Amino acid sequence: MVMEEQRRPTVAVVVLGDIGRSPRMRYHASSLIEEGFNVNLIGYGGSEIPELKKYPGRISVSYVKDYISVTAQGMSRIFLYFIKVFALTLSLAWALNWRRPPLCVLVQNPPSIPALPVLYLYCLVTKAHFFIDWHNYGHTILSLTLKPTHPLVSVCRWVEFHFGSRAVAGFCVTDAMRADLNNHGLERVATLYDLPSPAFKPISDEEKAKFLLRIGELYPKAFCCEDGGKKRVNRFAQLSEIGTAELKAERPGLVVSATSWTEDEDFQMFLTALETYDAQAVQNKVIAELVVVITGKGPLKRKFVEIIDSIPWRRIVIVTPWLSAEDYPRMLASSDLGVSLHSSSSGLDLPMKVVDMFGAGLPVAALDFSCLEELVVNDKNGIVFNNASELHAALVKWFKGPDFKNPNAGNTFHKTYRDNVKRFASRDWHSHWSDIALPEFKKFVSNP
Ligand SMILES: *[C@@H]1O[C@H](CO)[C@@H](O)[C@H](O)[C@H]1NC(C)=O
Repeated sequence: MVMEEQRRPTVAVVVLGDIGRSPRMRYHASSLIEEGFNVNLIGYGGSEIPELKKYPGRISVSYVKDYISVTAQGMSRIFLYFIKVFALTLSLAWALNWRRPPLCVLVQNPPSIPALPVLYLYCLVTKAHFFIDWHNYGHTILSLTLKPTHPLVSVCRWVEFHFGSRAVAGFCVTDAMRADLNNHGLERVATLYDLPSPAFKPISDEEKAKFLLRIGELYPKAFCCEDGGKKRVNRFAQLSEIGTAELKAERPGLVVSATSWTEDEDFQMFLTALETYDAQAVQNKVIAELVVVITGKGPLKRKFVEIIDSIPWRRIVIVTPWLSAEDYPRMLASSDLGVSLHSSSSGLDLPMKVVDMFGAGLPVAALDFSCLEELVVNDKNGIVFNNASELHAALVKWFKGPDFKNPNAGNTFHKTYRDNVKRFASRDWHSHWSDIALPEFKKFVSNP
């Protein structure tokens, strides 16, 4: 039995990031295991890796240590960066298995440095086959913090395309990115879309009501428990006489947005749209009151919470909770509309949070950028906006009149959008992966 397990071909799945927080690389690992490979995950520790419990004996982890975080400015920043790269190179090389190398190496890009050169050399020495999973470009992300003309950006760009072209195969997240890689001479790349993980799925009205009652206890300001703390009723849901949870017929609209509160998301645009909506809803009672839930942690959060608190909202309440990994999918599934302000550094990757919203059955209003239409199709599964006034119009369209509360009744656009979202979410990762990625691995092993 043990012999049998050891004879399986191994794929090293590498990410210079927290493995537990790299869902796509973990999905690659699961799919490889399902198809008969063993997997050696290589990356940073920090979060739990559920696959370790799920596939005992088939998966191992080798941790890379990230000793140095670069927070300094100016010249010392560059200096620290080189030290960091040097330390990471050693740490990564140490984590790799040189005595019994894997059959294939699949590495996430970005981060590109030092992952791509180190793993390319490793594959050269050990004769492993070199695969890259392109989530985005490292050099476009780097050019957000440094200037686009900074020499380090050019170095990173060269590293990405030079070592990228040495891979035997690659996968990427959009057709737009594949076309761009093709333009840079990388021909053996296939589009492998992100799909929602199984945790993100639609839930019944009763489950929504239960969840909203529970979350209401934590955020009474927004959810406004009306029965003096007996927890039987809030603005969204109530417990019936016989104790079953139900959604209230009269309830506010529930909008959800997730953010990492960084410079590349324009939250001011969202607030401006909400302020206009608020003023309009005071005038026009047909426009629903809103509870807006913005989840996530990040550097600009405090600044925006101060701005939010300084605005005299009348028909809108905004809360910025931290939600657990179990509650976040329920929050999405219980909401009426998701909002995405993601804009891509390369214009070639798609917002994972919208994928998850679709998984939960939630239509979205999403900020437009060059390849968004590979995911969100305006007026089909969501509304695409370019500026605050278009986002405001999207919110009014969605929450004018009572239809949003009953998307499955009647023949409103709410139902059409939700049906289209459901169709998207019915595709599953493993069969998509088996169509696109498995044949590439099978080229090197006939029978895993
Ligand atoms: C918002 O974007 C639309 C479409 O690009 C444009 O027609 C409109 O003028 C813009 N509005 C403002 C206020 O910038």
